[in-house]
Amino acid sequence: MTQTVLLTLPLADHLLDASFGDVRWLQFQGDAHLSNPQWCSALKEADAVLCTLTTPFDREVFAQAPRLKVLSSVSVGVDHIDLETATSRGVAVGHTPGVLVDSTADLAIGLMLASCRRLVEGDRLIRSGHWGEGWTTGFFLGTDLSGATVGLVGLGAIGQAVARRLQGFGVRVLGWNRTPRSIPGVETVDLDTLLTTADIVSLHTALVPETNHLMSSGRLDAMKPGAILINTARGGLVDEAALIAALQSGRLRAGLDVYAHEPLPTDSPLLTSDAVVMAPHIGSATAATRAAMLQRALQNLTMGLAGDALPFCANPAVYAQ
Ligand code: GLV
Repeated sequence: MTQTVLLTLPLADHLLDASFGDVRWLQFQGDAHLSNPQWCSALKEADAVLCTLTTPFDREVFAQAPRLKVLSSVSVGVDHIDLETATSRGVAVGHTPGVLVDSTADLAIGLMLASCRRLVEGDRLIRSGHWGEGWTTGFFLGTDLSGATVGLVGLGAIGQAVARRLQGFGVRVLGWNRTPRSIPGVETVDLDTLLTTADIVSLHTALVPETNHLMSSGRLDAMKPGAILINTARGGLVDEAALIAALQSGRLRAGLDVYAHEPLPTDSPLLTSDAVVMAPHIGSATAATRAAMLQRALQNLTMGLAGDALPFCANPAVYAQ
């Protein structure tokens, strides 16, 4: 029987090959919001969906998709999907772990270096024509990554990859994980010790209800004056308003790839702060990594359409029922 696959991202024709079996592709472009009747009617027809993290699947969206059996997301994070509802509805959710670990870890190190050494600020200074002084001993001083103490919040695959990279900088690495883990080269500490000791705090934990605003105003206050917060995970992990206040007061600095609202609103106070280096959610944005993520997501889709278990399933409980 023909199955309908709803695509919320453009895909090259050669990817939609015969390995999917008897499939009707339904391309959706536009506002994936329930107030859009075209989105609702596409959802009604879908047996499977291939989406990205910009398409939310909450209880109300699932309610509009009565045929849905497979939801394959081209992302490792699945905080845009209500997994509990998916599982209770019998929808298998696919994601793409593993293949974006190195790219995301590289970006975290890049943000650390850019923040410590004020690289983006320096670039702005030159381009604006304000590099008035030549080389003087007190000019444009930053801090060293070499010899710093870095605290990793979350010791999953990405946190561990960041720890491995940091060994090369002669850094003392502290680590905290929700379920304690012992990782070579990482001193396991409690979260309070990590926050009060680290010169740089880097977030590598998933966004789930328990980690929402993990970096609360109180925890940001606990960080050392002058410390740097790096976030390549999810904006929701941080109380962004409290972070902005800490940046504006000069107490903290930050290197961010993710935000509470994306794209970042054009009136965000972050835009006028020199204390933050920003990237536009590009942790996994290399050609090779995105190709590998897509391949993994298509593999989930093929297996799901064939009625098999997804190889990279975010809600394995769906198979227990
Ligand atoms: C990117 O943020 C991802 O979750 O893949």
